[in-house]
Amino acid sequence: MSLHIEAKSGEIAETVLLPGDPLRAKWIAETFLQDAHCYNEVRGMLGYTGLYNGTPVSVQGSGMGIPSAMIYASELIRDYNVKNLIRVGTAGSFQQDIKLRDIVIAMSASTTSAINQHRLPGSFAPTANSTLFLNAVDYARVNNIPFKTGNILSADEFYDFEPENFKKWARFGVLCTEMETAGLYTLAAQYGVKALAIVSISDHLLTKEKISNEVREQGFVEMVQIALNCTNS
Ligand code: HPA
Repeated sequence: MSLHIEAKSGEIAETVLLPGDPLRAKWIAETFLQDAHCYNEVRGMLGYTGLYNGTPVSVQGSGMGIPSAMIYASELIRDYNVKNLIRVGTAGSFQQDIKLRDIVIAMSASTTSAINQHRLPGSFAPTANSTLFLNAVDYARVNNIPFKTGNILSADEFYDFEPENFKKWARFGVLCTEMETAGLYTLAAQYGVKALAIVSISDHLLTKEKISNEVREQGFVEMVQIALNCTNS
């Protein structure tokens, strides 16, 4: 048991998928895992463990934003010995050629958060684990799942005080914005475990398009399949 997770020791698998939304965690467990059981209801942040192809896998809601995601990731790593943390989330596109429902496998995560300003004597570059990243790319290619790769932004604020600020990130080739990955990649590096973030585009900052909740769910299927298959090496 940890401060925010009531699972017993051994109840959480080495590999954990991390959607922000706890109800998405429930949906992933019910849709993709066999014999899934719920191990956490603290704060409604649902967590489940089940079997995927016979191997135990967990899925834990992580909430919105770096602070929330870092609470769950820290406890999973420190108190439950989790070794592979794979975010499955949504993001807003910054680029004309990154369209609604596209899947982005995040090589790195720039951030407006201050988490790394005092951790190290310079600026740390939060980066995906290369094994998980390459496995994810291979799986997507072999299964004809279209995807993009690159740098994403983990923003500290959903509603930017200067709404046009995103164009500066876009100019530097940043693909899309979400709110958690830089925290996850940083913690994974700090604790020597593996992390990867895969996101699907739910809204577009240039065109202002958004996808419906239903389509959002369908778009999740291929992303979750990549996530569930990127730890085999
Ligand atoms: N901004 C931040 N996080 C997000 C967005 C966005 O536009 N879309 C989905 N997650």
